[in-house]
Amino acid sequence: MASAASFASLPLPELYARVRHHVPAMEWPVFARDIEAILTLKRQHNAVILAHNYQTPEIFHTVADIVGDSLALAREAVNTDADVIVLAGVHFMAETAKLLNPDKTVLIPDAEAGCSLAESITAEDVRRLRSRYPGVPVVTYINTSAAVKAESDICCTSGNAKKVIESLGVDRVIMLPDEFLAQNTATQVLGIEIITWAGHCEVHERFTPEDIRAVRESYPDVVVLAHPEAPPEVVAGADYAGSTAGMADFVGEKRPARVALVTECSMSDNVAALYPEVEFVRPCNLCPHMKRITLPKIRRALERRQHEVTIDPAVAERARLAVERMLAVR
Ligand code: 13P
Ligand code: SF4
Repeated sequence: MASAASFASLPLPELYARVRHHVPAMEWPVFARDIEAILTLKRQHNAVILAHNYQTPEIFHTVADIVGDSLALAREAVNTDADVIVLAGVHFMAETAKLLNPDKTVLIPDAEAGCSLAESITAEDVRRLRSRYPGVPVVTYINTSAAVKAESDICCTSGNAKKVIESLGVDRVIMLPDEFLAQNTATQVLGIEIITWAGHCEVHERFTPEDIRAVRESYPDVVVLAHPEAPPEVVAGADYAGSTAGMADFVGEKRPARVALVTECSMSDNVAALYPEVEFVRPCNLCPHMKRITLPKIRRALERRQHEVTIDPAVAERARLAVERMLAVR
């Protein structure tokens, strides 16, 4: 197996060893310049970089201090003693970090890094649903704006949706805005009615049962892992469904010879870098929002302290409660 010593002629050889399967050696010096600058800037600003599992390997495996799914990033945001948090992910993740750290500077390297789920619902929509279903608690996926969280009773992620719903002790909930996550969770919380909203993740809604059939036909021994933002008929055809951290843990624990991660493409790249003996086969789709974050933009974010996330304090106070209630569910 290649070690850092094999790349001694390259800058930052230990870091290159981690991403060698994804970054051609010829291109590495350009990446390395930004990485070196980012590492220095982090020390100067007492900054920490939180990166989602969908970030590209040259971010995920080199400059990130903490990596994980949405739940882990929210939990770790509470624990950091850095002065500055750079969120390598999408806007709702940076907002969540800010909600939990009102006194810290939270930066997102590209202010346009959005999410089709967060775009699918407004605070006014939630207020209308509440008046249509009086007394029914609102469980809101973390992939939403702070304004929507502020109208909610409790948040959830794909990693804890079942536990959060069961923690309420009721037989009916409104679960927003991901229709497929709600339908997939409904199969795990029998006896609880879930009222859904028609929001979808533009990355996961494109997978079809035919994709699963095709990958199984080509690779009969393949283990298929799907994200619960995918349609129920896709999840039904998978061997396991869970959050991005759930999928990574599954591969780490079971080490299948061949695996297909039915999710965003960088996820496979990042997990593959850790387990070279596992063969990763596609399908996967790219998230255009996650891909807005690049090393040069992270460098600029630290150099210029941009783009700072701010939230109206009145909204933040109510939204924080919904996130904190979620974090209290174990
Ligand atoms: P998790 O990492 O929480 O599973 O979420 C996936 C996702 O789509 C985040 O945008
Ligand atoms: Fe939103 Fe889907 Fe992209 Fe995640 S993968 S940020 S849910 S659009």
